[in-house]
Amino acid sequence: MSLRDRFRSVNSRTEKAEREDSTGNTASSAVTVDGNGKGNGKSVANALNDRTSGLKARIHRRMVERINLANLDSIAPEMLRAQIGHIINALVVEEGIPLSESQRLSLEQEVMNETFGLGPIEPLLHDPDVSDILVNTHNQVYIERFGQLELTEVKFDNDEHLMKIIDRIVSRIGRRVDESSPMVDARLLDGSRVNAIIPPLALDGPILSIRRFGVRTLNLSDLMELGSVSPGMAEILKGAVKARLNMLISGGTGSGKTTLLNAMSAFIPVEERIVTVEDAAELQLLQPHVVRLETRPQNIEGKGEITQRDLVRNALRMRPDRIVVGEVRGVEVLDMLQAMNTGHDGSLTTVHANNPRDALHRLETLMLLSGVNLPPQAMREQISAALDVIVHVSRMSDGTRRVVDVSEIVGMEREVVAMQEIFSFKRTGISEDGKVLGRYEASGIRPKFADRLEISGISVPASLFSEGQVI
Ligand SMILES: Nc1ncnc2c1ncn2[C@@H]1O[C@H](COP(=O)(O)OP(=O)(O)O)[C@@H](O)[C@H]1O
Ligand SMILES: [Mg+2]
Repeated sequence: MSLRDRFRSVNSRTEKAEREDSTGNTASSAVTVDGNGKGNGKSVANALNDRTSGLKARIHRRMVERINLANLDSIAPEMLRAQIGHIINALVVEEGIPLSESQRLSLEQEVMNETFGLGPIEPLLHDPDVSDILVNTHNQVYIERFGQLELTEVKFDNDEHLMKIIDRIVSRIGRRVDESSPMVDARLLDGSRVNAIIPPLALDGPILSIRRFGVRTLNLSDLMELGSVSPGMAEILKGAVKARLNMLISGGTGSGKTTLLNAMSAFIPVEERIVTVEDAAELQLLQPHVVRLETRPQNIEGKGEITQRDLVRNALRMRPDRIVVGEVRGVEVLDMLQAMNTGHDGSLTTVHANNPRDALHRLETLMLLSGVNLPPQAMREQISAALDVIVHVSRMSDGTRRVVDVSEIVGMEREVVAMQEIFSFKRTGISEDGKVLGRYEASGIRPKFADRLEISGISVPASLFSEGQVI
């Protein structure tokens, strides 16, 4: 949509809002906002949201009257922003509405957001802590912050308003949402992933889900501070990455796998060439030499799909020092294990599983589903030869995420993969306010990989592995 069309569509929507508004109470309600001296910040924004749609509509209309629409596309966006700011100021003064400075600014911002941004959710997109924005029809918006869902006070005027914003997002990538294609995946300019699904598939109205990219992710020190990993464990995980162990992070959905993968990847030495493969780019590696690859879904004609397997195979031809796969969930497991077995040490990935043993089953199942013609034992041998360590993460009943188990793969015991637990989180109870209590303990087994760490110059105090040692 061109800037001009966008302008017009905002205008037609707000005119409608104004008509609706004028049937009830109009400008006076805007004055009331100020008149009753409500505080600032959130409550003002919301009060303005609720009661000044008439004012906003008038501002829009007068802006369109004053700005030469024919020139709109040729004006630099920044200039336009400034001009619109002036017009809003002038109008607010002309209308003689006694807005406080903070109210005026927030009104100005709202009008800007409507015209150039994603309307009421625009401020959420600028909050560095918001990782997901979930719009469930026009009147309910949830956000996720640090892994917790919160209901916000943000609302769209109506479903039509929400549809306009959805249209704006998907039209940027040349897609559209309507009855004939009621589901769309798109990406915002900042890399955030967007999914929209509308009626008739979504029963109650349009649904928009945004997974933000570039949100500050937790590093290993953050995870230690949060109690998600103990200092002793963190040392070992760091060392294991440096010593090029092949590691699999397992856990349920939202248990913190990707976050831990990202935090651990930070310890890959800067001089190495890292290739990442993901279904939806989430990893944010800080090293200078990183090549990021992302899959592509099939197009409307069902063609052009590029799978994780294609990308893993391609990655192997790119002379990587390390391959990091965001999550194995399909046939790429074969290529990943093969890569691990053939000299691409230090590869890292995650898998969806309920415990470390389940993670092994899951890999086996994925291999089976790939149709590879190998007897089960051969598959397990391949898994056991490829992997060195499984780190299991879990989301506990109090919402905290923890590394609950670090296990080492030590080979085969007849037909099964032999695994030994090195560290685990021992749950001891629940506090009065519902917090999970427990401590991180060593199992008493000195891992075989301790030697590999030593060889790589990483010192591991033997005491760290003494039985019952709180690490
Ligand atoms: N240790 C942690 N403490 C608090 N929040 C966490 C922790 N690990 C992850 N999170 C948050 O939980 C959410 C899900 O994490 P993510 O790593 O994407 O999980 P997964 O990859 O297992 O689905 C994210 O919002 C993330 O910021
Ligand atoms: Mg993940």
